[in-house]
Amino acid sequence: MVKAVVLGASGGIGQPLSLLLKASPLFSELALYDVVNTPGVAADLSHISSPAKITGYLPKDDGLKNTLTGADIVVIPAGIPRKPGMTRDDLFKINAGIVKGLIEGCAQYCPKAFILVISNPVNSTVPISAEVLKAAGVFDAKRLFGVTTLDVVRAETFVQEYSGKKNPSEATVPVIGGHSGETIVPLFSQATPKLDIPKEKYQDLVKRVQFGGDEVVQAKDGAGSATLSMAYAGFRFAEKLIKAANGEKGIIEPTYIYLDGVAGGDEIKKHTGLDYFSVPVELGPNGAEKAINPLTNVDAQEEELLKAAYAGLKGNIEKGIEFAHNTP
Ligand code: NAI
Repeated sequence: MVKAVVLGASGGIGQPLSLLLKASPLFSELALYDVVNTPGVAADLSHISSPAKITGYLPKDDGLKNTLTGADIVVIPAGIPRKPGMTRDDLFKINAGIVKGLIEGCAQYCPKAFILVISNPVNSTVPISAEVLKAAGVFDAKRLFGVTTLDVVRAETFVQEYSGKKNPSEATVPVIGGHSGETIVPLFSQATPKLDIPKEKYQDLVKRVQFGGDEVVQAKDGAGSATLSMAYAGFRFAEKLIKAANGEKGIIEPTYIYLDGVAGGDEIKKHTGLDYFSVPVELGPNGAEKAINPLTNVDAQEEELLKAAYAGLKGNIEKGIEFAHNTP
């Protein structure tokens, strides 16, 4: 019996993500929350003949409380998306406050739930979330995840011609670091099966994984950023997490975590000098059971990419922590 919650459920990501969660037999209950339209989205999805009992709430009448009470997993795609010319960091001003408020609700009404943060800039919204949970005395690093799965999904797709896999998701391509531009570091050297990338293609592939989101933002021409592929990626992460929590072994997926509270994280913290970093994480009954260190095994090109990632992430993390401490 698993209760899933989507905060920001009426949006471009929220609706298809809610559809995938509703269609999955893994969930017995699904609660949707947004500042607009959730009763309609919930009514629509309620006609689907899958087991999950579905409810939709607005802020009025204790909506957030009713949504979150009893939640096992909370997925957060609430906030504004990018328009052409914007970086994820440009979203900070609005989304930081939205995420802070929603995490305060999680701390109060479902302090033990797994929390999956999709709202950008993930590099900063996850540190904000951790600080809010710490202040409420309920922080558990194993249960807070920045969702970077879309970067992994893109990498699997973009290298398909070099992986030889008919189904791109049968290839494993670790993507580490953060979730914006140069903080995204694909480790093609550690892909399985081994990739045979021609030298002259390497830079283009790296850039495509780092800036793949811009392709969608430009193509949508002002109507938002990736929503359908993100819903797929968010669902994939949520599904793996719940399968692992139910006892399935050997499930590993990269995700952006607070390193201190996860086994193996201290080694990565020493290496990067950062408190937060995305690495492949073994998932289990308590969430992030073990962070796997890919850093001792990178090639010279990846080492260069990592230097840029460390510098970018440091500022993003500090900005999030500062916001959490200095905003009432
Ligand atoms: P959208 O604008 O279509 O939907 C956002 C939804 O959040 C709207 O329905 C809005 O009413 C709702 N919302 C706003 N304030 C809220 C609040 N206080 N409580 C509850 N709901 C609230 O945006 P879209 O395209 O769904 O993107 C959502 C976020 O996801 C953006 O920040 C975007 O940058 C991010 N994103 C993250 C990705 C990742 O890989 N982690 C990939 C793509 C987008």
